[in-house]
Amino acid sequence: MLTAIRPVRAADWPAVVSLESAAYRDLGLSEDPGLLRGRAGAGTSFVVEARGRVAGYLLAFPFPYGRSPDLAAGGTVVSGTGGLHLHDLVIAAEHRGGGLGSLLLAHLLDMAHDGPYRRISLVSIARSRTFWAGHGFRPRPEVVVPDGYGHGAVYMSRPL
Ligand SMILES: CC(C)(COP(=O)(O)OP(=O)(O)OC[C@H]1O[C@@H](n2cnc3c(N)ncnc32)[C@H](O)[C@@H]1OP(=O)(O)O)[C@@H](O)C(=O)NCCC(=O)NCCS
Repeated sequence: MLTAIRPVRAADWPAVVSLESAAYRDLGLSEDPGLLRGRAGAGTSFVVEARGRVAGYLLAFPFPYGRSPDLAAGGTVVSGTGGLHLHDLVIAAEHRGGGLGSLLLAHLLDMAHDGPYRRISLVSIARSRTFWAGHGFRPRPEVVVPDGYGHGAVYMSRPL
């Protein structure tokens, strides 16, 4: 499969919103499209294309370790703390298990190594914990996840 990773562009948002909705709507976790779009600042968000079409996305931004963005509010970028928050990673259902999620994550980690970040964190939702654990993220049960991330949400983190 021909794949390419590149920064999110304005024209990608309909595809990103559609992937997000398909992944989370039935779980009651889908975000307002306007708020979702506000999570893509700081040059740390990407899409992966497969055969010229957006097949997945990753949204990340600077944010302090130990805090999780409020899913019902915007304005998330907080620079200068050494923390990078991986807000969301979704691969289209028909492409899952083919390595694209790992590819997007590896791309972010490569970039983050060259940036001002010391640690990357996320809230694992929707049974994705094994995927993150396989990429070196460890649960941080002492960090309380705010309401809104759904049952079984776990804060996870790893050094960079
Ligand atoms: C989680 C997700 C991004 C993984 O992307 P992917 O392209 O399918 O992942 P890859 O093919 O790179 O890697 C899959 C590996 O992770 C493991 N894995 C663990 N939990 C998984 C899960 N919930 N979904 C997919 N793979 C999972 C698989 O067993 C596989 O391991 P293997 O390579 O040893 O067989 C994708 O399944 C997805 O979009 N899920 C829905 C949205 C979601 O839950 N995102 C995370 C929110 S925090």
